[in-house]
Amino acid sequence: MRYKNLFTPVKIGSLTIKNRFAMAPMGPLGLSDSQGGFNQRGIDYYTERAKGGTGLIITGVTFSDGKVEPQSMPNCPNSTFNPVHFIRTSKEMTERVHAYGSKMFLMMSAGFGRVTIPTNLGEFPPVAPSAIPHRWLDKTCRPLTKEEIKSIVKSFGDGAYNAKRGGFDGVAIHAVHEGYLLDQFAISMFNQRDDEYGGSLENRLRFAREVVEEIKARCGQDFPVILRFSVKSMIKDWREGALPGEGFEEKGRDVEEGLEAAKLLVQYGYDALDTDVGTYDAWWWNHPPMYQEKGLYRPYCKMVKEAVDVPVLCAGRMDDPEMASASIENGDCDMISLGRPLLADPDYVNKLRAGRVCEIRPCISCQEGCMGRIQEYSMINCAVNPQAARERVTAYEPVVRDHRPELFEKAGHLGGNLIPGGAPEFKEDDLALAKWYEKQMELLNVPVRLNTEVTKEDVLAGGYDAVVVATGSAPKVFSLGDDGKVYTAAQVLTGEKDCGDETVVIGGGLV
Ligand SMILES: Cc1cc2nc3c(=O)[nH]c(=O)nc-3n(C[C@H](O)[C@H](O)[C@H](O)COP(=O)(O)O)c2cc1C
Ligand code: SF4
Repeated sequence: MRYKNLFTPVKIGSLTIKNRFAMAPMGPLGLSDSQGGFNQRGIDYYTERAKGGTGLIITGVTFSDGKVEPQSMPNCPNSTFNPVHFIRTSKEMTERVHAYGSKMFLMMSAGFGRVTIPTNLGEFPPVAPSAIPHRWLDKTCRPLTKEEIKSIVKSFGDGAYNAKRGGFDGVAIHAVHEGYLLDQFAISMFNQRDDEYGGSLENRLRFAREVVEEIKARCGQDFPVILRFSVKSMIKDWREGALPGEGFEEKGRDVEEGLEAAKLLVQYGYDALDTDVGTYDAWWWNHPPMYQEKGLYRPYCKMVKEAVDVPVLCAGRMDDPEMASASIENGDCDMISLGRPLLADPDYVNKLRAGRVCEIRPCISCQEGCMGRIQEYSMINCAVNPQAARERVTAYEPVVRDHRPELFEKAGHLGGNLIPGGAPEFKEDDLALAKWYEKQMELLNVPVRLNTEVTKEDVLAGGYDAVVVATGSAPKVFSLGDDGKVYTAAQVLTGEKDCGDETVVIGGGLV
């Protein structure tokens, strides 16, 4: 067992988790029914990741408040809307997850406040700790009253109690992270209140403190409550985020205050900190695209781990098992949290455990099928795994009549446009995906004929039952006449052509 330390148990409070892998929370859009319960898609989706070996499943955001911010996020489960129904659907899901030896936490959100997605806002005025500008809209937020804060806190107690009855092993609080409502209270730039919820760091964290205290009072002191926590905000100014490596003055939460906050939050009762960095003003940190480094939160997790004595979870492109194993070894974190990698391959953990690393289908950090689809269709999915969140509807049927597929490829290698697409070094996962397909052909014993162009005569003479013609796509080439000076992006990216020092780039949006 090469990555043995990833398969040792770990404790969150009194709860033992069988290995070091957690499924990172990802918005369960399309996974709830009209009564706020988990629908069949949701139940199957989470069960599939437990079946794949993940020790701890954390759901994406769900809601408990229905009064203060009713518009927050439609299409997600709600733990208080119809309690009996929520408990029943949760129970069906947690029983199946437990059957695979995994534990499951419900992520509960305090709301979005200033960062409510404009299309969800409707006619409602956005809320926030203070009268601050909305993240995108030309609107000023309405400050929450103390009664509203208290009612959200109470809803956390009710929702967590229902979650416990529904078989959840704990809850994850959303979030002193990414600039969501609880985080807006915690950050002085957003919180200009002069009551007991504003001013000192302790006052700004009071909301988050009341949430954990309420849940522990309702569910018992030993009921695990973890917190999504961004130790640093990466804010240069309103709606302006910092880039990697850029020197800037932090206007949000800096590391010094972040570490102080971490200690206080643990003192208040949080049993683990699921740590990252960023805000909606610097979204490329919380949702790292392919041009962010793998494992980008590791140095921040290490600082938090040195400041507190509860487990630290670390997400953020942690799918390289060498990196994951070294992070546990070096004390960067206690658990590896996989979000998108588990969308791309629900069996990641079991494949790793069995030493079948080359069979893990890589996430290419493209955001197209997950965040992109959420934004456009309110339905989570994955560009490289169309079965994600559609496990039952797209389940493979047993093969009753054997087929013997054969693959012909005109080029000398498989991969098509993934090859030039993967040429920049930060897109190494595109090449890894091409390799994965190659490996799948080998494992399925599909003969691959490279450098072979198939003609109509070949097809007719071959006696095939079916022919799938996969032509790929050809670039539209701009013409400057016939001087041979126009190259396609693919020719330049693969090194086939050298475009020299003085070059005009035309188009390039898709590339
Ligand atoms: C589609 C999608 C939805 C997400 N929704 C949530 C969420 O509901 N709550 C949360 O705390 N983080 C959310 N995240 C952030 C992830 O938990 C995770 O921190 C991030 O994707 C980086 O980890 P990864 O590279 O393993 O995906 C979401 C990420 C994605 C891709
Ligand atoms: S859609 Fe892209 S970024 Fe999202 S999980 Fe799939 S491969 Fe990864």
